[in-house]
Amino acid sequence: MSVAGETKTITPPMVRLQKGRTPLVCLTAYTTPMAKLVDRHCDLVLVGDSVGMVLHGLPSTLGVTLDMMIMHGKAVRRGVERALLVIDMPFGSYEEGPEQAFRHAARIMAETGCAAVKLEGGETMAPTVRFLTTRGIPVMAHVGLTPQAVNMFGGYRVQGRGEDADRIRSDATAVADAGAFCVVLEKVPEHLAQRVTAEITIPTIGIGASPACDGQILVTEDMLGLFTSFRPSFVKRYTELAQDADVAIATYATEVRQRRFPAVEHVFSEAPKDVDVGQPRR
Ligand code: KIV
Repeated sequence: MSVAGETKTITPPMVRLQKGRTPLVCLTAYTTPMAKLVDRHCDLVLVGDSVGMVLHGLPSTLGVTLDMMIMHGKAVRRGVERALLVIDMPFGSYEEGPEQAFRHAARIMAETGCAAVKLEGGETMAPTVRFLTTRGIPVMAHVGLTPQAVNMFGGYRVQGRGEDADRIRSDATAVADAGAFCVVLEKVPEHLAQRVTAEITIPTIGIGASPACDGQILVTEDMLGLFTSFRPSFVKRYTELAQDADVAIATYATEVRQRRFPAVEHVFSEAPKDVDVGQPRR
């Protein structure tokens, strides 16, 4: 593991110090079992508001609520021991102003035990980032394509092409200057990712933003081939778990219909066996 060798828990200052060093490895998790799997390999685990689309079938992240984030945050907390745990602030929970953002970020932290929050937005959100970071709340910022603003962008398009690059540069600089410990850079061209990464003092965490960034993040269900409604071109599928699951479920259905499952080893006999003591399910 790159950030901290044998260190027990990775902190926001450790992530910040990783600027320009071994790339930071980040993934999302929404449940305890997935958190346990990713914690073993990641520096940072994000409970992203992508949970709305990936687990709840919502058409965008706009319908995700604070209560949903807190519920998934608590589940993930139970599975993360070593990685830095960050929880997304959902749409509508921080944009009104710094006080609203503080109230909701404090609730997320107190109820889940996470170490930091993430919020979307650049220059406009910089005063909020400063308000939170000067009051004990570490902030991971998010600029470029910010999915909560999908209606303003008119879709999930690449951001920062041509003259629009300056907007992304100003956004990244503004949140870095306001005290964010790292910033997600989503769906921007490689030359812009290189430039922003060189210009700011905090790590850039890319998603669709080239290897020029100081780290990478993906939605875990995307890279495992478990979320198939959407296939962003920047995602590499490291396996195809949905296909494997389909084969397994089809086999189960056939075996049930043919009475081949349950087989003899899954059936209880009249006489108790000594192993049949009701082991808790793992
Ligand atoms: O919601 C999310 O999962 C995210 C990451 C993909 C950066 O914001």
